[in-house]
Amino acid sequence: MNDSGIPQEGHNKIPIGWLAFFVGMIIFIVVYVVRFTPAISGWSFYNIHEEEMKAAEKAAASAPASPGKYIGQADAIAEGKTEFETSCAACHMADASGGIGPSLKVALKYGSSPDKLFESIAAGRPNGMPPFGQQLGNDKIYKIVAFIESLRK
Ligand code: HEC
Repeated sequence: MNDSGIPQEGHNKIPIGWLAFFVGMIIFIVVYVVRFTPAISGWSFYNIHEEEMKAAEKAAASAPASPGKYIGQADAIAEGKTEFETSCAACHMADASGGIGPSLKVALKYGSSPDKLFESIAAGRPNGMPPFGQQLGNDKIYKIVAFIESLRK
């Protein structure tokens, strides 16, 4: 140690780790600013939001295409049968052979594709078929559709 009386810190080298950290931060900041400044990279929350909304719309638009999703699945058909006995049997009979409401085992006037069945059940039909969309929700109706479908074979 030679104490010259002059401050010695100026002669110390910066530890390599600190230097790397310092340079790293500068690079990070530059990259970050370039990457996320709309005027430079075009990045924008609005674009991301729009893309997400488009994806969600697509998902929503394809959802109603699934009323037939439980057809042929024994568990779902059993649940649909129970639901049918609770909500529908009063008018259509437990075996759907018809009473106040028509038989659901024969040709249906509003159509018997899963889509049309779903429509009949969810939205109702003019001559006395009440809408069940609110009360049951989509999933239960899909199961009822599977049950009705199972009777028709
Ligand atoms: C209050 C009595 C009543 C209840 C409860 C009822 N329906 Fe109906 N349903 C009817 C009547 C009446 C019609 C005929 C409507 C028409 O011709 O416009 C009908 C029509 C239908 C049709 C269309 C038939 C066709 O020919 O296209 C389907 C499918 C159907 N009902 C299913 C159901 C299901 C499933 C439930 C239970 C969630 C249910 N209904 C509960 C009275 C009822």
